[in-house]
Amino acid sequence: MSQETWNAVDDYLLTTLFADDPDLDWIIEKSKAEGLPEINVSPCHGKLLHLIATIHGSSRILEIGTLGGYSAVWLAMALPENGRLITLESIPRYAAVAAGNIERAGFSDKVRIHVGDALKSLPVLHEEQTIPFDMIFIDADKTEYPEYLDWAIKLSRPGSIVVMDNMVRDGAIIDPASEDDFVKGVQQTLDFVKKTPRLSATAIQTVGLKGYDGFLIAVVSD
Ligand code: SAH
Ligand code: DHB
Ligand code: MG
Repeated sequence: MSQETWNAVDDYLLTTLFADDPDLDWIIEKSKAEGLPEINVSPCHGKLLHLIATIHGSSRILEIGTLGGYSAVWLAMALPENGRLITLESIPRYAAVAAGNIERAGFSDKVRIHVGDALKSLPVLHEEQTIPFDMIFIDADKTEYPEYLDWAIKLSRPGSIVVMDNMVRDGAIIDPASEDDFVKGVQQTLDFVKKTPRLSATAIQTVGLKGYDGFLIAVVSD
């Protein structure tokens, strides 16, 4: 099996499964035109995030890593009338592109972008927070994944869901001697999960438009 097949199957699945959503398609195009890296989740993954939020009935969602707002809009589309998404982005130019995209998709009333380093924003959110998040999607700097996860637990309630992107990285995570900071971040995250009894987790390998990778999903208990 090759990347070519994975791309063709992903294209087939998304054209047969979904009606075209012009707002979501626009975000991909606009992000490309603005020179943002093409590291947003794939459409099938975006829909999975949307479905997880829907099945769970999440009304307060936190995202770490906004980029152009593509996954943010998939998640926002799952929110009920009074639902809210807070999304964290360190690069002001990306956050500005995301703000335009989120506004265009009609979600600026439900989505708030916090511009700045997530490890600075997370303690502030924790300080200010009165209501825990129902779902947290972690997709920013992989070297900081264990710390994001630690904050995600602090910002959760029993039953909250945590999803983490890019947990397989072409299979590189099985190399215990890896010098890649990205890989080491994922490995440390997996160790952290195992040592944290409050997390019940699994990870799933995926192939598709974004190559060979995977995601972790966890439920927080008390
Ligand atoms: N979730 C997005 C993709 C996010 S890509 C989507 O699927 O559409 C990762 C993003 O995390 C990038 O925009 C990057 O600038 C941001 N990021 C990296 N380090 C960060 C940090 N320390 N704090 C906040 N955002 C960060
Ligand atoms: C990278 C980051 C991502 O969030 C992703 O989905 C793919 C690649 C990266 O930093 O290389
Ligand atoms: Mg990612």
